[in-house]
Amino acid sequence: MRILITAGPTREHLDDVRFLSNASSGRMGFALAAAARAEGHSPSLILGPVDLPPPPDVPVTRVTSAQEMHDAVLAALPAHDALVMAAAVADYRPKQRAKGKPRRSAGPPTLELVPTPDILAAARAVARPGFVIVGFALEAGDLGEGARRKLAEKRVDWIVADAPAAIGVDVTTAEIHGRSGLVMRLDRKPKADIALAIIRQLGATAV
Ligand code: CTP
Repeated sequence: MRILITAGPTREHLDDVRFLSNASSGRMGFALAAAARAEGHSPSLILGPVDLPPPPDVPVTRVTSAQEMHDAVLAALPAHDALVMAAAVADYRPKQRAKGKPRRSAGPPTLELVPTPDILAAARAVARPGFVIVGFALEAGDLGEGARRKLAEKRVDWIVADAPAAIGVDVTTAEIHGRSGLVMRLDRKPKADIALAIIRQLGATAV
């Protein structure tokens, strides 16, 4: 399968030097790309700004903002069979981006935020029948409850739910949920193990 994987955070700029973002390291997306290669698939990455190097031999498109990630995903979609949205996409961006670096003496800015494009929803709207979509759900509460809600809302094939503590670290607990319920719970596992389970699930169920 040709698997498109998004990874890392997005940055939503207030001006040319300041931005809103999160602590996503890209590790889960990199682990997914490595697992996909190990299982004989062809992965490619769409990557937000991260410090870690992506796995070698995986084509990478670098993006900064949620809008850029959205555009890159939609452009790449026709050449792939599945999308795994492991990126921690910012939900909101500043309505306006100021030029240069406004001075502190200008006083505290009032930030008006507007939603970023919902990349999963946009992908679902244009994906051909049989195209497989996996979303992630960062859930502060019950993993299963959030996963079931997002499966229905986002019309994806699988949701991988994990806790906010997963951001930026290697070992985490995750649940894989499909349309017919919980498929697998992985307790305190390295992201490499979780990624392999997700990729095997994809490979086993794709048409
Ligand atoms: N996502 C997306 N486009 C966005 C924001 C998020 O495609 N603009 C994707 C993420 O990559 C992830 C999934 O949506 O695969 C769920 O992200 P999450 O932040 O957990 O969910 P939200 O939709 O933001 O819902 P909530 O805030 O209620 O948890």
